Parts: sequence; C-alpha cells; structure tokens
Amino acid sequence: MKQKLIVGNWKMNGSLAANAALLQALKQGLPEGGKAGVAVAAPAVYLAQLQAELSGSAIGIGAQDVSQHEQGAFTGEVSAVMLKEFGARYVLVGHSERRQYHGETDAVVAAKAQAALAKGITPIVCVGETLQEREAGQTEAVVKRQLAAVIHQVGACVSELVVAYEPVWAIGTGKTATPEQAQAVHAVLRAQLAAATEHAGRVPLLYGGSMNAANAEQLLAQTDIDGGLVGGASLKAADFLTIVAAAQ
Ligand code: PGA
Repeated sequence: MKQKLIVGNWKMNGSLAANAALLQALKQGLPEGGKAGVAVAAPAVYLAQLQAELSGSAIGIGAQDVSQHEQGAFTGEVSAVMLKEFGARYVLVGHSERRQYHGETDAVVAAKAQAALAKGITPIVCVGETLQEREAGQTEAVVKRQLAAVIHQVGACVSELVVAYEPVWAIGTGKTATPEQAQAVHAVLRAQLAAATEHAGRVPLLYGGSMNAANAEQLLAQTDIDGGLVGGASLKAADFLTIVAAAQ
C-alpha cells in the first residue's frame, strides 16, 4: 500500500509552551518505524521552535502560507527561501481561509505553489467547494478549476505536488464529507492529474475537513485518499496520534 501522509494544520493557534508540550507528546507517541509520513504546519513565527524541537525526529515541518515573490517590498510576507532556512518541507497554499479572508485567487495560489517548488518546498495545494457550490452541483467544476490553475503554472513539476481536498463546508464545522463523497472528488482530482502527468499515482491526495480520531480510518480506507490534512484534531496529541495510527 502507498505510504499515507498526515499533516496537522495548527492554523493560528499555539504558544511556545503549548507547542513544546504538543510536540513532545507527538514525538513520544509516534509509532517506532511507523509507515505513514507525518508533518505539522505551524504559524511562521514558530518555525524556529519546530526546527529545534523536531531535529532528528520523523515529523516534517510545514508552513501555512508563502509569498509568491522572492524578496523585496512585500511587508508582512514570508518567502520560500526564509521558510526553507527554518527547515520547512511543506507549505499549505490556497487554504480556503486564505482564499476567503485574504482574497487569494487561483492565479495567486498557482504562483505560490510555483514559488515553493522553486525553492525545494512541497506545496500542499488546497482545493474545495463551498456549501453553496455543492448544492448548485458545481463541486467538480470548482475543484477542477482550482487545480487546473496550479497544474498549468507548474508544468512538469505537477508530480511533486501534494493536493488536499477540503470541502469548505466541512472545515471546522464537525460536518465531514462521507467517505464516498470524499472518494468521488478524489477520483476526479486523480483523473485530472493523470491527464497532466504519468506519475499521478504518486501525488498524495489528502482529505481535510473535520477529520478526527473517530472518522479517520474509514476516510483513509478509500482508494484515492492518501492521507489527511487535520485542523482542530491536530491540536490534541491523542487525537492526532490516533489519526496517524489509522494511517499505518
Ligand atoms: P478542520 O480543519 O480539521 O478543523 O476541519 C481542516 C483544515 O482547515 O485544514
């Protein structure tokens, strides 16, 4: 079976003390020789802490956003090179909260994915429909449009992406997509990737949106669900470790 990947998205949560306790618990609780890949995406100011606490551990470091620009007069932004200096292996791009609250367009998301790849960081490209779009029967069209922008931008590097399907209506709401609903969209994304690269099978397709200790196993059992992007449940060590265990 293909290796699964579980990524915690801490969002704008944490403190030096809380992070230290959480990371300690994760390091202690991860199974020896576990097969699943594990990473946590923290606020940028905590990347130095992650780098120090996670050195020598199997937990990868992730960031939650990256600038599309290399450097210069972009106050408040953080570049891919800066993230790389602090050990970032992954960066979320196009999370629905960035699209919704920060006006990130498909084009900006694609440029960010490209900026990350150019510096050797794996972008985790987030796509997903709102409830309104789902009810209007637009789910497939929306996720395909979002992914197409990135595929078009990154060209031959498409096989180096991670893609996360996160239905907006399921994020932080406790409403999870059913395994069947999630699998149906993942199959669409896989087919879209397959049209762009012969290596589509190796692009991890993560599901995100109220994944938790109780529902992870069923979601992860679906053919095209290769892992999870976990928000709320990633802040509780026991829950996150249960999800990781379900991915082994
Ligand atoms: P959630 O968030 O697990 O709290 O729904 C997932 C995400 O937004 O990545």
